[in-house]
Amino acid sequence: MKVVNTIKELKELLAVCRSEGKSIGLVPTMGALHAGHESLVKRSVVENDVTVVSIFVNPTQFNDKNDLKNYPRTLEADCALLDKAGATIAFAPSVEEMYPTEDTRQFSFEPLDTVMEGACRPGHFNGVAQIVSKLFYAVEPDRAYFGEKDFQQLAIIREMVRQLGLGLKIVGCPIVREEDGLAMSSRNTLLSEDERERALTISGTLFASVGFAEVNTLEATKAFVEDMINDTPGLELEYFQIVDGNTLQEIAQWDDSDYVVGCIALFCGNVRLIDNIKYKGGE
Ligand code: PAF
Repeated sequence: MKVVNTIKELKELLAVCRSEGKSIGLVPTMGALHAGHESLVKRSVVENDVTVVSIFVNPTQFNDKNDLKNYPRTLEADCALLDKAGATIAFAPSVEEMYPTEDTRQFSFEPLDTVMEGACRPGHFNGVAQIVSKLFYAVEPDRAYFGEKDFQQLAIIREMVRQLGLGLKIVGCPIVREEDGLAMSSRNTLLSEDERERALTISGTLFASVGFAEVNTLEATKAFVEDMINDTPGLELEYFQIVDGNTLQEIAQWDDSDYVVGCIALFCGNVRLIDNIKYKGGE
């Protein structure tokens, strides 16, 4: 596996691959890689001749300076994981490389970006769109891989590809969970032992809510999840919304959509975690 730090070097390598008729898969990441990322890389390796994995903690998508400062950075271990998973190129640029001048582009993905993460983290999705579009222009992949844990991000990236008229395919990949159910996240490494234990309530509650939802109203299911989280000391719920999986808008009753997803965000101590669960459709 080659590690490159500049767009010029990346483009030169990829031009050779393309001239040989090779297909290119891209897995954008912010590093601190875990088995969830590994599953995206392995899928790309199966579906493409060349797999590029970007490792870049993107400052423009952090609305909280401390969050950016504390975000885990583990480049050496990341490269070892990628090499083993079969990636062809790790692209690890500096901030100056990706933002030689300020990116003043303003994206709008209304109404997808005005709810949930968009409402709680102003500017977050604009930053995601800025960096992901730059990566798409630099790599020009045939396919790009994103995890369904960031459910709203995935919907917004699909919309961005539509708006920009890009020809690549966006591949959404299932959430990978720890054996005990906790959704894999780079932020999990920031949890203390005690917080890690409490965080289990998140997936436990979401799984339990699926059975509850089968015999209860949507309103009651929402209250079930909210109460379970609010009753757990050390967890601070930011939102739990039951939404249409395509529009991401809240629905009032199960029959309002064929594709229904519950999305949650909360603080476990100082660590912000998200997760989601499918109630209906979306296969
Ligand atoms: O999901 C992430 O890790 C980031 O938002 C992404 C897509 C790599 C953009 O920085």
